[in-house]
Amino acid sequence: MSLKGKHLIDPNDFSLEEFKQIFDLADRIVEDRESFSSVCRGKILGTLFYEPSTRTRLSFESAMLRLGGTVLGFSDASTSSVSKGESIADTIRVLDAYADIVVMRHPKEGAPMLAAEYSRVPVINGGDGGHQHPTQTLTDLLTIRRLNGSLDNLTVAFCGDLKFGRTVHSLVSTLARYNSNKFVFISPAELRFPEHLKETLLEKHNIEIVETESLEEVINQVDILYMTRIQKERFFNEADYMRLKDSYILTRSKLANAKPDMLVMHPLPRVNEIAYDVDGDQRAAYFKQAELGIYARMALMALQLGVDVNVKGK
Ligand code: CP
Repeated sequence: MSLKGKHLIDPNDFSLEEFKQIFDLADRIVEDRESFSSVCRGKILGTLFYEPSTRTRLSFESAMLRLGGTVLGFSDASTSSVSKGESIADTIRVLDAYADIVVMRHPKEGAPMLAAEYSRVPVINGGDGGHQHPTQTLTDLLTIRRLNGSLDNLTVAFCGDLKFGRTVHSLVSTLARYNSNKFVFISPAELRFPEHLKETLLEKHNIEIVETESLEEVINQVDILYMTRIQKERFFNEADYMRLKDSYILTRSKLANAKPDMLVMHPLPRVNEIAYDVDGDQRAAYFKQAELGIYARMALMALQLGVDVNVKGK
Protein backbone atom coordinates (compact mmCIF):
# COMPACT_ATOMS: atom_id res chain seq x y z
CA MET A 1 0.00 0.00 0.00
CA SER A 2 1.56 3.27 -1.10
CA LEU A 3 0.23 6.79 -1.50
CA LYS A 4 3.08 7.66 -3.85
CA GLY A 5 1.79 9.44 -6.95
CA LYS A 6 -1.88 9.36 -5.85
CA HIS A 7 -4.20 12.34 -6.31
CA LEU A 8 -6.45 13.46 -3.43
CA ILE A 9 -9.65 14.90 -4.89
CA ASP A 10 -12.31 13.31 -2.69
CA PRO A 11 -11.71 11.77 0.77
CA ASN A 12 -13.09 8.52 -0.61
CA ASP A 13 -10.00 8.31 -2.85
CA PHE A 14 -8.11 7.00 0.20
CA SER A 15 -8.84 3.92 2.30
CA LEU A 16 -9.08 4.11 6.09
CA GLU A 17 -5.74 2.28 6.21
CA GLU A 18 -4.22 5.04 4.08
CA PHE A 19 -5.71 7.67 6.41
CA LYS A 20 -4.09 5.85 9.31
CA GLN A 21 -0.75 5.90 7.54
CA ILE A 22 -1.06 9.71 7.18
CA PHE A 23 -2.10 10.21 10.82
CA ASP A 24 0.64 7.93 12.16
CA LEU A 25 3.24 9.90 10.20
CA ALA A 26 1.67 13.23 11.25
CA ASP A 27 1.95 12.13 14.90
CA ARG A 28 5.63 11.34 14.38
CA ILE A 29 6.20 14.78 12.81
CA VAL A 30 4.37 16.53 15.69
CA GLU A 31 6.67 14.76 18.15
CA ASP A 32 9.92 15.56 16.31
CA ARG A 33 9.42 18.06 13.48
CA GLU A 34 13.12 18.91 13.19
CA SER A 35 13.97 15.38 12.04
CA PHE A 36 11.74 15.82 8.96
CA SER A 37 13.12 19.23 7.98
CA SER A 38 14.86 18.07 4.80
CA VAL A 39 12.90 15.01 3.63
CA CYS A 40 11.45 17.02 0.69
CA ARG A 41 14.64 18.84 -0.25
CA GLY A 42 14.53 19.56 -4.00
CA LYS A 43 10.74 19.14 -4.22
CA ILE A 44 8.44 21.94 -5.36
CA LEU A 45 4.81 22.49 -4.39
CA GLY A 46 2.62 24.40 -6.89
CA THR A 47 -0.27 26.33 -5.33
CA LEU A 48 -3.13 27.24 -7.69
CA PHE A 49 -5.67 29.26 -5.70
CA TYR A 50 -8.58 30.57 -7.76
CA GLU A 51 -10.50 31.41 -4.58
CA PRO A 52 -9.38 33.19 -1.36
CA SER A 53 -7.75 31.19 1.43
CA THR A 54 -5.68 31.79 4.53
CA ARG A 55 -5.30 28.42 6.27
CA THR A 56 -5.27 26.00 3.36
CA ARG A 57 -2.81 27.89 1.17
CA LEU A 58 -0.49 29.04 3.94
CA SER A 59 -0.50 25.73 5.80
CA PHE A 60 0.38 23.92 2.56
CA GLU A 61 3.18 26.41 1.95
CA SER A 62 4.40 26.15 5.52
CA ALA A 63 4.21 22.35 5.34
CA MET A 64 6.38 22.15 2.22
CA LEU A 65 8.87 24.69 3.56
CA ARG A 66 9.09 22.80 6.86
CA LEU A 67 9.85 19.61 4.90
CA GLY A 68 12.75 21.36 3.17
CA GLY A 69 11.04 21.92 -0.20
CA THR A 70 10.04 25.10 -1.99
CA VAL A 71 6.78 26.64 -3.22
CA LEU A 72 5.54 28.52 -6.29
CA GLY A 73 2.07 29.51 -7.46
CA PHE A 74 -0.61 32.15 -7.29
CA SER A 75 -3.15 33.22 -4.69
CA ASP A 76 -5.08 35.47 -7.07
CA ALA A 77 -5.98 33.99 -10.44
CA SER A 78 -6.33 37.50 -11.94
CA THR A 79 -2.52 37.78 -11.82
CA SER A 80 -2.11 34.56 -13.85
CA SER A 81 -2.88 33.76 -17.50
CA VAL A 82 -6.29 32.49 -16.40
CA SER A 83 -7.31 36.15 -16.79
CA LYS A 84 -6.44 35.80 -20.52
CA GLY A 85 -8.76 32.81 -20.81
CA GLU A 86 -6.35 29.88 -20.26
CA SER A 87 -8.14 26.63 -19.38
CA ILE A 88 -7.49 24.51 -16.28
CA ALA A 89 -6.26 21.69 -18.52
CA ASP A 90 -3.62 23.88 -20.15
CA THR A 91 -2.60 25.50 -16.86
CA ILE A 92 -1.98 22.13 -15.20
CA ARG A 93 -0.14 20.74 -18.24
CA VAL A 94 2.35 23.57 -17.81
CA LEU A 95 2.45 23.53 -14.01
CA ASP A 96 3.27 19.85 -13.77
CA ALA A 97 6.60 20.62 -15.44
CA TYR A 98 7.29 23.32 -12.85
CA ALA A 99 6.20 21.49 -9.68
CA ASP A 100 6.33 17.97 -8.19
CA ILE A 101 2.93 18.21 -6.50
CA VAL A 102 0.05 20.67 -6.90
CA VAL A 103 -2.74 21.91 -4.63
CA MET A 104 -5.71 23.62 -6.28
CA ARG A 105 -8.64 25.57 -4.81
CA HIS A 106 -11.39 26.54 -7.23
CA PRO A 107 -14.94 27.95 -6.92
CA LYS A 108 -16.23 25.38 -9.46
CA GLU A 109 -17.05 21.88 -8.26
CA GLY A 110 -14.97 19.30 -10.10
CA ALA A 111 -12.16 21.66 -11.21
CA PRO A 112 -9.41 19.79 -9.27
CA MET A 113 -10.73 16.47 -10.65
CA LEU A 114 -10.37 17.85 -14.18
CA ALA A 115 -6.84 19.04 -13.35
CA ALA A 116 -5.95 15.56 -12.06
CA GLU A 117 -6.97 14.02 -15.40
CA TYR A 118 -4.33 16.12 -17.18
CA SER A 119 -1.60 16.17 -14.53
CA ARG A 120 1.53 14.02 -14.42
CA VAL A 121 2.08 14.95 -10.75
CA PRO A 122 -0.24 14.43 -7.75
CA VAL A 123 -3.07 16.96 -7.54
CA ILE A 124 -4.65 17.80 -4.18
CA ASN A 125 -8.10 19.35 -3.95
CA GLY A 126 -7.79 22.39 -1.67
CA GLY A 127 -11.57 22.96 -1.77
CA ASP A 128 -13.89 23.01 -4.81
CA GLY A 129 -17.03 25.14 -4.52
CA GLY A 130 -19.61 23.65 -2.17
CA HIS A 131 -18.39 20.12 -2.94
CA GLN A 132 -15.38 18.70 -1.06
CA HIS A 133 -12.40 19.78 1.05
CA PRO A 134 -10.46 16.57 1.70
CA THR A 135 -7.39 18.07 3.39
CA GLN A 136 -9.63 19.88 5.88
CA THR A 137 -11.01 16.42 6.63
CA LEU A 138 -7.49 15.09 7.23
CA THR A 139 -6.95 18.03 9.59
CA ASP A 140 -10.26 17.40 11.37
CA LEU A 141 -9.69 13.67 11.79
CA LEU A 142 -6.13 14.17 13.03
CA THR A 143 -7.49 16.68 15.57
CA ILE A 144 -10.21 14.29 16.77
CA ARG A 145 -7.79 11.37 16.92
CA ARG A 146 -5.22 13.34 18.95
CA LEU A 147 -7.63 15.14 21.29
CA ASN A 148 -10.37 12.53 21.66
CA GLY A 149 -8.36 9.36 21.13
CA SER A 150 -10.76 7.60 18.75
CA LEU A 151 -12.57 8.10 15.45
CA ASP A 152 -15.29 5.55 16.32
CA ASN A 153 -18.43 5.61 18.51
CA LEU A 154 -18.87 9.38 18.32
CA THR A 155 -21.96 11.58 18.24
CA VAL A 156 -20.92 14.41 15.94
CA ALA A 157 -23.09 17.51 15.52
CA PHE A 158 -22.66 19.77 12.48
CA CYS A 159 -24.12 23.26 12.89
CA GLY A 160 -24.66 26.06 10.35
CA ASP A 161 -24.44 25.85 6.57
CA LEU A 162 -24.73 22.14 5.89
CA LYS A 163 -25.95 22.65 2.33
CA PHE A 164 -22.94 24.44 0.81
CA GLY A 165 -20.37 23.52 3.48
CA ARG A 166 -17.72 21.45 1.69
CA THR A 167 -15.87 20.80 4.95
CA VAL A 168 -19.07 19.23 6.31
CA HIS A 169 -19.68 17.08 3.21
CA SER A 170 -16.13 15.70 3.27
CA LEU A 171 -16.05 15.05 7.01
CA VAL A 172 -19.48 13.38 7.15
CA SER A 173 -18.64 11.10 4.23
CA THR A 174 -15.42 10.05 5.96
CA LEU A 175 -16.68 9.66 9.53
CA ALA A 176 -19.49 7.52 8.07
CA ARG A 177 -16.82 4.95 7.15
CA TYR A 178 -15.63 4.54 10.75
CA ASN A 179 -17.53 2.42 13.31
CA SER A 180 -20.77 3.41 15.03
CA ASN A 181 -20.66 7.17 14.53
CA LYS A 182 -23.95 9.12 14.75
CA PHE A 183 -24.70 12.52 13.23
CA VAL A 184 -26.78 15.45 14.42
CA PHE A 185 -27.47 18.04 11.70
CA ILE A 186 -28.35 21.49 13.04
CA SER A 187 -29.28 24.08 10.41
CA PRO A 188 -31.99 26.43 9.19
CA ALA A 189 -34.42 24.68 6.79
CA GLU A 190 -32.82 26.42 3.76
CA LEU A 191 -29.32 25.13 4.60
CA ARG A 192 -30.06 21.50 5.45
CA PHE A 193 -27.59 18.70 4.69
CA PRO A 194 -28.22 17.68 1.04
CA GLU A 195 -30.76 14.88 0.57
CA HIS A 196 -28.67 13.09 -2.08
CA LEU A 197 -25.67 12.90 0.27
CA LYS A 198 -27.86 11.65 3.07
CA GLU A 199 -29.11 8.84 0.86
CA THR A 200 -25.81 7.79 -0.66
CA LEU A 201 -23.58 8.26 2.36
CA LEU A 202 -25.69 7.59 5.36
CA GLU A 203 -28.39 5.14 4.41
CA LYS A 204 -25.71 2.96 2.79
CA HIS A 205 -23.89 2.81 6.13
CA ASN A 206 -27.14 2.53 8.13
CA ILE A 207 -26.20 5.51 10.26
CA GLU A 208 -28.39 7.20 12.84
CA ILE A 209 -29.20 10.83 11.99
CA VAL A 210 -31.04 13.52 13.94
CA GLU A 211 -32.04 16.75 12.18
CA THR A 212 -33.01 19.84 14.13
CA GLU A 213 -32.98 23.63 13.94
CA SER A 214 -32.08 23.96 17.64
CA LEU A 215 -28.51 23.77 18.93
CA GLU A 216 -29.66 24.13 22.54
CA GLU A 217 -31.94 21.07 22.27
CA VAL A 218 -29.10 18.66 21.42
CA ILE A 219 -25.86 20.13 22.78
CA ASN A 220 -25.86 17.88 25.87
CA GLN A 221 -25.72 14.69 23.72
CA VAL A 222 -22.75 15.60 21.58
CA ASP A 223 -19.07 14.49 21.61
CA ILE A 224 -17.90 16.78 18.79
CA LEU A 225 -19.64 20.05 17.89
CA TYR A 226 -18.51 21.14 14.41
CA MET A 227 -19.55 24.77 13.91
CA THR A 228 -19.52 26.30 10.42
CA ARG A 229 -19.84 29.75 8.92
CA ILE A 230 -22.89 30.82 6.94
CA GLN A 231 -21.00 31.45 3.69
CA LYS A 232 -21.88 34.78 2.09
CA GLU A 233 -20.09 33.80 -1.14
CA ARG A 234 -22.45 30.84 -1.75
CA PHE A 235 -25.69 32.93 -1.66
CA PHE A 236 -27.37 34.25 -4.78
CA ASN A 237 -28.98 37.18 -2.97
CA GLU A 238 -27.85 39.38 -0.10
CA ALA A 239 -31.26 39.41 1.61
CA ASP A 240 -31.21 35.63 2.19
CA TYR A 241 -27.69 35.85 3.60
CA MET A 242 -28.63 38.71 5.94
CA ARG A 243 -31.65 36.76 7.21
CA LEU A 244 -29.66 33.59 7.93
CA LYS A 245 -26.17 34.81 8.82
CA ASP A 246 -26.62 34.84 12.60
CA SER A 247 -28.78 31.71 12.85
CA TYR A 248 -26.39 30.16 15.37
CA ILE A 249 -24.04 31.85 17.80
CA LEU A 250 -22.27 29.55 20.27
CA THR A 251 -21.55 31.37 23.53
CA ARG A 252 -19.86 30.23 26.73
CA SER A 253 -23.21 30.18 28.52
CA LYS A 254 -24.63 27.76 25.92
CA LEU A 255 -21.74 25.39 26.70
CA ALA A 256 -22.99 24.99 30.27
CA ASN A 257 -25.13 22.01 29.21
CA ALA A 258 -22.47 20.39 27.02
CA LYS A 259 -20.31 17.42 28.05
CA PRO A 260 -17.12 18.56 29.84
CA ASP A 261 -14.95 16.74 27.27
CA MET A 262 -16.90 17.76 24.16
CA LEU A 263 -14.70 19.28 21.42
CA VAL A 264 -15.80 22.50 19.72
CA MET A 265 -14.36 22.45 16.21
CA HIS A 266 -14.58 24.89 13.29
CA PRO A 267 -12.68 24.85 9.98
CA LEU A 268 -12.34 28.67 10.25
CA PRO A 269 -12.64 31.45 9.26
CA ARG A 270 -15.36 32.26 11.80
CA VAL A 271 -17.55 35.31 11.53
CA ASN A 272 -20.15 35.44 14.36
CA GLU A 273 -20.95 31.79 14.95
CA ILE A 274 -18.58 31.29 17.89
CA ALA A 275 -18.42 34.13 20.42
CA TYR A 276 -14.94 35.16 21.53
CA ASP A 277 -15.77 34.16 25.11
CA VAL A 278 -15.68 30.50 23.99
CA ASP A 279 -11.99 30.73 23.01
CA GLY A 280 -10.80 30.33 26.60
CA ASP A 281 -12.98 27.27 27.27
CA GLN A 282 -11.09 23.94 27.53
CA ARG A 283 -13.44 22.50 24.87
CA ALA A 284 -12.46 25.07 22.20
CA ALA A 285 -10.31 23.07 19.75
CA TYR A 286 -10.46 25.22 16.59
CA PHE A 287 -7.08 26.94 16.83
CA LYS A 288 -5.37 23.64 17.69
CA GLN A 289 -7.21 22.19 14.67
CA ALA A 290 -5.77 24.90 12.38
CA GLU A 291 -2.28 24.21 13.76
CA LEU A 292 -2.59 20.46 13.20
CA GLY A 293 -3.47 21.19 9.55
CA ILE A 294 0.21 21.80 8.89
CA TYR A 295 1.16 18.34 10.20
CA ALA A 296 -1.63 16.59 8.29
CA ARG A 297 -0.43 18.28 5.08
CA MET A 298 3.25 17.56 5.77
CA ALA A 299 2.45 13.87 6.18
CA LEU A 300 0.17 13.80 3.13
CA MET A 301 2.68 15.41 0.77
CA ALA A 302 5.64 13.37 2.03
CA LEU A 303 3.70 10.16 1.34
CA GLN A 304 2.35 11.30 -2.05
CA LEU A 305 5.86 12.27 -3.11
CA GLY A 306 7.23 8.95 -1.87
CA VAL A 307 10.17 10.53 -0.06
CA ASP A 308 12.09 8.62 2.59
CA VAL A 309 10.39 9.29 5.95
CA ASN A 310 12.47 6.77 7.89
CA VAL A 311 14.36 9.59 9.53
CA LYS A 312 16.55 9.13 12.56
CA GLY A 313 14.95 10.83 15.57
CA LYS A 314 16.69 12.78 18.29
N1 CP B 1 -10.48 26.01 6.58
C1 CP B 1 -10.16 26.63 5.43
O1 CP B 1 -10.28 26.07 4.32
O2 CP B 1 -9.74 27.92 5.58
P1 CP B 1 -9.27 28.88 4.42
O3 CP B 1 -10.49 29.18 3.57
O4 CP B 1 -8.71 30.09 5.10
O5 CP B 1 -8.25 28.15 3.59
